[in-house]
Amino acid sequence: MVGTSSVSQPDGPLKGVKVLDWTIWQFGPVSTSMMGDMGADVIKIESLDGDPGRGLARASNLRMDLGEGRVAYFEALNRNKRSLAVNLKTEEGLKVVHELVKDADVFVQNFRSGVAERLGVGYDTLSEINPKLIYGSANGYGPDGPDAGQPSFDGCGQARSGLMMSATEDYQEYPTRVTQGVSDQIGGIMLCQGILAALVSRGIRGVGQKVETSHLSANMWLQGLGISMSLLQGGVNFASYSRDSPTNPLSNTYNGSDGKSIVMMHLQPDRYWAPLMKEMGLEQFIEDERFVDMSARAENAPAIVKILDERFATKTVAEWDKLFRDSETDFIYALVQSIEELSDDIQVQSNNYITHFDHPVLGDVQMCNHPNIYSETPAGIWKEAPEVGQDTEEILIENLGYDWDDIGRLQSAGAIL
Ligand SMILES: CC(C)(COP(=O)(O)OP(=O)(O)OC[C@H]1O[C@@H](n2cnc3c(N)ncnc32)[C@H](O)[C@@H]1OP(=O)(O)O)[C@@H](O)C(=O)NCCC(=O)NCCS
Repeated sequence: MVGTSSVSQPDGPLKGVKVLDWTIWQFGPVSTSMMGDMGADVIKIESLDGDPGRGLARASNLRMDLGEGRVAYFEALNRNKRSLAVNLKTEEGLKVVHELVKDADVFVQNFRSGVAERLGVGYDTLSEINPKLIYGSANGYGPDGPDAGQPSFDGCGQARSGLMMSATEDYQEYPTRVTQGVSDQIGGIMLCQGILAALVSRGIRGVGQKVETSHLSANMWLQGLGISMSLLQGGVNFASYSRDSPTNPLSNTYNGSDGKSIVMMHLQPDRYWAPLMKEMGLEQFIEDERFVDMSARAENAPAIVKILDERFATKTVAEWDKLFRDSETDFIYALVQSIEELSDDIQVQSNNYITHFDHPVLGDVQMCNHPNIYSETPAGIWKEAPEVGQDTEEILIENLGYDWDDIGRLQSAGAIL
C-alpha cells in the first residue's frame, strides 16, 4: 500500500483564502485544485449543467467512469472544492456571484476571451465590486492578438508552443504529443503561481490585479531555457534530439536485456567516462582516440552508442542499476518508469507523493498528492470532488445570509439548481 492518508482538514498555507473558481475542463481546475490542496476555501461556480469535464468518457486510453456517477477526470481536478451551480445568464444568478465577489480574495476563469465580459464577470466589473480582488484568467493564445478568442485544448498548446517538435526525433513521421494533458497541467500551475504572487503583492502594496496566462505562454515557459538560449544566438533552430547520434552519448537512453530503458544524464561526461567504461567492462575504450573527450565522443557518437547499446543489452536494467549503485562513482541516471510503476517506487512511497483518501462514495482511493511538502502548514487531500451544485444552499446561507425563501425564489427563477 502506498503512502498514508492525506490531511484530514484544510490546514495548508492558503487557509483563510477565499477562491471563486469559475473554471472548466483541466487548465483552470488544475490551478484551483492546487489552491484547495493548500487549504484555500474554493467555491467552484458551475453552470446548471455542470463543468463539461464531468462528462468526459475517456482520456488518453483510460476509461473515466468510476461508478456511482463519479468520473476520474473530474474527481482528480476538483478535489477540495465545493460546488455552487448558478446560471450566470439570469439577473439573480449574476447577483449571487457579485455578492460572493465582495469578500473573495481570488476569482479564476478559463473561458474564451470575451465570455466573462459578456456574462458580467469580467475583470473590470468584478474589480469595481472588490478592488482588492485577484482575477486569474487563462485562455489559449493570450489576451491580445487575432487569435485571442480562439478555442484551445491541451494539444493546441503543445503544437503551437513548439513542445511537440521538442519531443520529436528526426525519423518520426508525425510529431509526438505528450499524453496526460501536460499542456493544461503546466498552464494551471503557471496560473496558480501567478495568482499566488499577486496575493503576496496585494499584501505588500494593497492592490488587486488581473493575472493572465495562456496555453501558449505556459508551454513556451516550460521550454523557456531552450527558447531563450536559441534567441540569445539569433533564433537558431536547435537540432532535434537524436538517440542514435547524440551530442553526448553519456546523456542518452539505452535498453537493457529486458527491453526496459535507462536514461544516463552525465552532463560532465569527461568526469564519468573512465569510471563508467570500467564498471561496464569496457576498459579497452577508455583511452580510445575516438572517444577520448567530449568533443571526440560527439564526433564519433554513433560508434559509441552502438558499443553501449550492445553492452547494455547484456543485463536487465535492474542489474545495471545494482551495478551502478554498488560502484564507488555516483553515476547519474534513472530507470524509465511508466505511470503504473510509480506506486511501487520507494521514493514515491517514502515522500507520500501518492496518497490515500477516504472518499465517502468510492471508499479508499489513491491520488497524486500535492507536489510540495510544507513543514508547518501541510497541503493534501481533505475533501472529495463535489456533485453539481452540491453546496449551493450551504454557500448561499452561510456565505451570503440567504434564507430558504430566497433559495426557493432563486430555484423557481432558474438561477440556481
Ligand atoms: C475550453 C473551450 C475550448 C470551450 O469552448 P466553448 O465550449 O465554445 O465555451 P466558451 O468558453 O466559448 O463559452 C462557454 C459557454 O458556457 C457558458 N457558461 C459557462 N458557465 C456558465 C454559467 N454558470 N451560467 C451560464 N452560462 C455559462 C458561457 O456563457 C458560454 O456560452 P455562450 O457562448 O452560449 O454564452 C474554451 O473555453 C477555451 O478555449 N478556453 C480557454 C483555453 C482552455 O482553458 N481550454 C481548456 C483546456 S482544459
